[in-house]
Amino acid sequence: MVTTGEKVTQENQSSNFNLASYLKEKQQLVEEALERSLSISKPEKIYEAMRYSLLAGGKRLRPILCLATCEMMGGGVEMAMPTACALEMIHTMSLIHDDLPAMDNDDYRRGKLTNHKVFGEDIAILAGDGLLAYAFEYVAANTQNVPPQKILDVIARLGRTVGAAGLVGGQVLDLESEGKTDISVDTLTFIHTHKTGALLETSVVSGAILAGASDEDIQRLSKYAQNIGLAFQIVDDILDITATQEELGKTAGKDLQAQKATYPSLWGIEESKKQAQQLVDEAIVELAPYGEGADPLKAIATYIVTRKH
Ligand code: FPP
Ligand code: MG
Repeated sequence: MVTTGEKVTQENQSSNFNLASYLKEKQQLVEEALERSLSISKPEKIYEAMRYSLLAGGKRLRPILCLATCEMMGGGVEMAMPTACALEMIHTMSLIHDDLPAMDNDDYRRGKLTNHKVFGEDIAILAGDGLLAYAFEYVAANTQNVPPQKILDVIARLGRTVGAAGLVGGQVLDLESEGKTDISVDTLTFIHTHKTGALLETSVVSGAILAGASDEDIQRLSKYAQNIGLAFQIVDDILDITATQEELGKTAGKDLQAQKATYPSLWGIEESKKQAQQLVDEAIVELAPYGEGADPLKAIATYIVTRKH
């Protein structure tokens, strides 16, 4: 909540933090860890399908949020890396399934053909299932230097985030809402806090848990993450209208085509931008206690509203 009325802008954030080089460095670490996480075994086809989507690039926002929060709370990158990889495995599998003909029926993702276009629907479903199961195995088997209770907490949160209380629930309501013209802001917000927000929140919170953060810190960071999660989705809706397929790496203008209710369709583009900025401002207020250590999370929050893809 903004209780101070403070308007946080890019200028009054720490000026010498370079987000571009921070993201580049962390993206490289994540790419290397993901590459190592899954090698090809028999039957090759399924591993190839899993690797095709997992290693297709992307912003790696969820792993980076996890690593950044862990470091901010005094932990090391290596203790959070298995969870960071698992978050990307879960995100990737949700996109593979989301793109299937039974759901959004999409041909492009991350600038490449979608998984089912390359491997067929049967293998794409199984590649998603394989990645989902592997995500949990990967955290349990590879997390080191963290008390077992904290690892269990992370695994339980991941499960809740993926299931009907999170991504699956949000996706169901999203599918049910297609073509309906009377979707309320509350329903739209429910869809997005579950479908997108939940995994972003768990990315931040799991980084904090692994570092041994207190309940009070976890609450603060949840609020930060909920706000940037919603802002992320509002901007996603805006970009679906304003950006090109090349910029997005996926089909543009799909929401309108599928008659999906979006924030711009309910509020208009200008009001949507204002709301996203307000959410980011409120998110940044939650980081006040952490001083310069919060520079990455502050800059990521700002990036979410200024991104072009
Ligand atoms: C993209 O939304 C889709 C998601 C963020 C998640 C969808 C969730 C599922 C398919 C459930 C997956 C199953 C498990 C077990 C986790 P979008 O269609 O609005 O965005 P897009 O334009 O990128 O496709
Ligand atoms: Mg989709």
